[in-house]
Amino acid sequence: MPVLRDLFIKLSEIKPINDASKQMGLRFGAQKVVGGITTEDAVKKIQELNNKGMSVTFDNLGEFITERSEANIEKDKIIEMIKASNQAKINAHLSVKLTQIGLNIDYDFALENIREIMKAAKEANMFVNLDMESYPKKVETMKILDELLKEYDNVGTVIQAYLFDSPQDVLKYKDVRLRIVKGAYKEPGNIAYQDKTDIDKSFFELIKAHLTNGTGFTSIATHDHNIINKVKAFVKENNISNDKFEFQMLYGFRTEYQHELVKEGYNFCVYLPYGPDWYAYFMRRIAERPQNINLVVKSVTTS
Ligand code: FDA
Repeated sequence: MPVLRDLFIKLSEIKPINDASKQMGLRFGAQKVVGGITTEDAVKKIQELNNKGMSVTFDNLGEFITERSEANIEKDKIIEMIKASNQAKINAHLSVKLTQIGLNIDYDFALENIREIMKAAKEANMFVNLDMESYPKKVETMKILDELLKEYDNVGTVIQAYLFDSPQDVLKYKDVRLRIVKGAYKEPGNIAYQDKTDIDKSFFELIKAHLTNGTGFTSIATHDHNIINKVKAFVKENNISNDKFEFQMLYGFRTEYQHELVKEGYNFCVYLPYGPDWYAYFMRRIAERPQNINLVVKSVTTS
């Protein structure tokens, strides 16, 4: 399996394939895990999910952003989606990676872009989540979060359970809305747990800490039923009401389980990626769980 993982990570990093795939529309089963290409597609998909009792966090996919002009196009597309969501009165918020709007180019430029996005989001009464990327970007992402928190209350970020410094972050941001995840990047042993058991243990500890300290809402983002079952038992034992937290999963993964959680009365939020830049996201999802190759096989054998 590690060989397959590395292969799909490598595939996700090939820019020429990424560029070519932008012209193709959704292919190879990607439509199972990506919500569409255009803003209109995404709004329609969100309406469908809202009708099933789920809220949505949308992610306008954008990869390989190295020029200011590209970052500005991404920022404009995100603002267009915020306005369209507001107009359609759908139950959705934004997830954004700061590298998509220029963090790999220049810190101040990215800060300027996220401020423009925050202004539009505030006007639309929408929450903005700063997605967390690999460790070298974490310090800058937290610095930008601190800047934004001086002006806005509708912003939060992601805590990665594999990082040794996450317990301090959860305490520091106890009054901020946080999404807690296991962590998706390959990080070295001097800053992050490597062993699955250690990561799972840290994950549950962080969830408990954020649920019981401060006023910040907790988004528990995982497909792992063992963790979800532990959270269900913990909130029951500690009388934590359902409006303090939600479960989040990626669009297209464990869909039946997602519906079960809604039926059980839990707040549930679907992470919905969309846009022409679907290729790298799709490859990373296969790398994460090589069984997802079934999506490709099924699409090829049924087309
Ligand atoms: P994991 O992959 O550890 O699986 C645990 C167990 O759950 C499996 O052994 C299996 O039993 C079951 N399972 C998992 N997936 C399944 C499936 N598809 N079908 C059936 N069973 C399955 N990361 C990051 O670094 N920064 C970020 O900003 C985000 N944001 C984010 C948002 C959302 C909504 C989610 C769900 C995830 C993220 N992540 C993330 C990714 C996260 O860090 C992590 O890499 C993945 O969620 C994979 O870990 P899981 O906790 O889902 O379970």
